[in-house]
Amino acid sequence: MKIKSVLFSLLAASLVSGAAFAQAPIVIKFSHVVAGDTPKGKAAERFKELAEKATHGRVKVELYPNSTLYKDKEELEALQLGAVQMLAPSLAKFGPLGVKEFEVFDLPYIFPSKDVLYAVTEGPIGKSLLKKLEPKGITGLAFWDNGFKVMSANKPIHLPTDMKGLKLRIQSSKVLDAQMRALGANPQVLAFSEVYQALQTGVVDGTENPPSNLYTQKMHEVQKYVAVTRHGYLGYAVIVNKKFWDGLPADIRGELEGAMKSATQYANAIAQQENDKALEEVKKSGKTTVITLTPKEQEAWRQALKPVQKQMEGRIGKDLIDSVNKEAAKLGFK
Ligand code: LMR
Repeated sequence: MKIKSVLFSLLAASLVSGAAFAQAPIVIKFSHVVAGDTPKGKAAERFKELAEKATHGRVKVELYPNSTLYKDKEELEALQLGAVQMLAPSLAKFGPLGVKEFEVFDLPYIFPSKDVLYAVTEGPIGKSLLKKLEPKGITGLAFWDNGFKVMSANKPIHLPTDMKGLKLRIQSSKVLDAQMRALGANPQVLAFSEVYQALQTGVVDGTENPPSNLYTQKMHEVQKYVAVTRHGYLGYAVIVNKKFWDGLPADIRGELEGAMKSATQYANAIAQQENDKALEEVKKSGKTTVITLTPKEQEAWRQALKPVQKQMEGRIGKDLIDSVNKEAAKLGFK
């Protein structure tokens, strides 16, 4: 009787722990540097929701927005080490990893429209760029849109010459460095989480970002002018630690790929409206004057910055730049 009850409790215990083991979810730590209320933040939330639902709780996605876990450079190292499993760094942040081709996205005026952008990110060019991450232990899953950038400073900006001598915060991209130098400005690389304070204390005079980032970080509170220059693009690659991804059960990986596909459609659908809304909020705040450029001023910016495309051929590859321009030509842009 005694042996029987011991056996019974052993069996019960093993069933319980077996069940607990079977139910222990696979955790995906998804770290990023922007606010939850941005195109990237919202798309990350959508991915979490869809991934957890599709896997019936076998996967748990933990979101860490606003650099709460890591800043720009550290998050890429953390991903490679496996301390986090998923990130969505901006495309300007892959250069230091040794994948400088991603800086093609930073070239001024490379995308005459969002359709051209999507032809690149959703087509063979995007696929081959993501493939370049594999030797770094990274699997690229998708591109998420954000938007075209505005310039901000504490003086009115109308013409490229207004930028002369200003200290401008940039992301860690050699193309952005060349772009600022072409304007006669002094670029300074800073992590995204440090920008607000750097603007507030005068470490830098200005910055560039899509309005959604500017507004949600309250940068407009420490910048008197925002010029809607739309001179360049900012978007993301959603990436995972390759070893982690390859080690997932195939059915789970399939569900996550499906969730990522839907989250990507969502990200790309909301990006424009989120940025339009943010620019409206900046205007409404009354703290910053939003400057719309005249067609003549826009042309002056284009003239000043377009040569950066040629100048960066050696770094990015002429073929890659040509292939993006070909996508534009296919859609009727010269
Ligand atoms: C920046 O550093 O300005 C951006 O890359 C932030 C982001 O992730 O959108």
